[in-house]
Amino acid sequence: MSRCPFASRRAFLGAAAGLVAAARTAGAAGTVPVSPSAVEPFHGEHQGGILTPIQRHTYFAAFDLTTAKLSDVVSMLKAWTQASARLTAGETAAPLSDRNGPAADGGAALGLGASRLTLTFGFGAGLFSKDGKDRYGLSSRRPEALVELPVFHGDQLVEGRTGGDLSVQACADDPQVAFHAVRELVRLAYGVADLRWTQSGFISAPDSGGTPRNLMGFKDGTRNPPATPQNDGRACLDDVVWAGNEGPAWMRGGTYLVARRIRISLEHWDRTEVDFQEQVFGRHKMSGAPLGGRDEFEAPNLSAMDEEGNPVIPEDAHIRLGAAETNGGAQILRRAYSYNDGVSFIAERWPPWRQGMQYDAGLFFLAYQRDPRTGFIQIYANMAMLDALNQFTTHVGSGLFACPPGVREGEFIGQKLFDAA
Ligand code: HEM
Repeated sequence: MSRCPFASRRAFLGAAAGLVAAARTAGAAGTVPVSPSAVEPFHGEHQGGILTPIQRHTYFAAFDLTTAKLSDVVSMLKAWTQASARLTAGETAAPLSDRNGPAADGGAALGLGASRLTLTFGFGAGLFSKDGKDRYGLSSRRPEALVELPVFHGDQLVEGRTGGDLSVQACADDPQVAFHAVRELVRLAYGVADLRWTQSGFISAPDSGGTPRNLMGFKDGTRNPPATPQNDGRACLDDVVWAGNEGPAWMRGGTYLVARRIRISLEHWDRTEVDFQEQVFGRHKMSGAPLGGRDEFEAPNLSAMDEEGNPVIPEDAHIRLGAAETNGGAQILRRAYSYNDGVSFIAERWPPWRQGMQYDAGLFFLAYQRDPRTGFIQIYANMAMLDALNQFTTHVGSGLFACPPGVREGEFIGQKLFDAA
């Protein structure tokens, strides 16, 4: 039985007032005012960048491991741990002392401050076995939850934007700080791991608060499990986000990240009427309130009918298909960023079947969950076939990563996986 208040409308009504207040003050759904010197902790029970109030920029990197030796992987993770502790504190990746030889830090973020940098690490299936080979003797430690994602209806995944043996996500309020941090980790990976794909992203909301809007102009992140450990949402996060006793001990307190690069046909969207757009999402564009409601944070009434006997929130509306109520209580923690990668020649797969140079822009969808089989897969399998939003979106990249628990002082990233391996 989920302890998340969104699992049922009645439970939501009971818990809503306190949780909504807590979510707003913590900025869980919104960005927080930029302060270059602000620091997010690196060490802790859980990794940063998951519950952390969302930073304005991300730089995500997936790596292929190229070494045959486990000891190389461990050495790299130790080096990444040391560098990450320094970078997230606003320092250089290593002390700058020697002017001979390659610099200990490239210097691109000197003077910029920590800008709330977080670095979140994940392990892909390829760390455990690749091409049928148990490269590092870790295959017996692969969590069952680290499945291969099924091929979903409409997927157009590009090999070069999919998969990876390791992932690193930098989030910061400054784009240069985020990029620099990953670049320094890439330097430490030379000879052990190569970049496979990367994705940058951005998101902004007014400093006065509020949920950020995505590139479709809708508030995105409203109905997310509560993201503040201090309130009674903690039990909910244990149910929805953090891995428990059901899997290997090394993943306890960790989580699973599903990343999807979703291109949005903005040209097509921009030709539609606001009324129609609201039917697609099931929410009002300006206020973010569910159709039939007035307040952004009120629970959608999924059973309400209009005078003609039609559902107020259409059967194929995005929020109906995504709601816990429609999915046997399944929930995920979404922490998505918009992306904008210029223009490409694109042939749309829906009417009006435009083709030509179009924005290569959309949503870098990132969702954390205790188990992807009962999280993203359960929710999206249905959505992929029925969601009205699909007319405007195409999934072109994908990854699933097991993100180990937080790093304690003196430990290295994912240490328990490697102990006695
Ligand atoms: C370009 C792609 C997408 C866009 C623009 C988008 C946008 C939105 C917006 C505007 C909302 C309503 C506000 C909110 O509660 O945050 C929402 C809700 C939601 N979305 Fe998406 N979304 C996208 C893809 C996905 C995908 C692939 C999933 C897969 C699981 C998903 C799952 C959800 C869920 C679970 C909710 C909350 C539903 C509820 O309980 O009301 N979204 N999304």
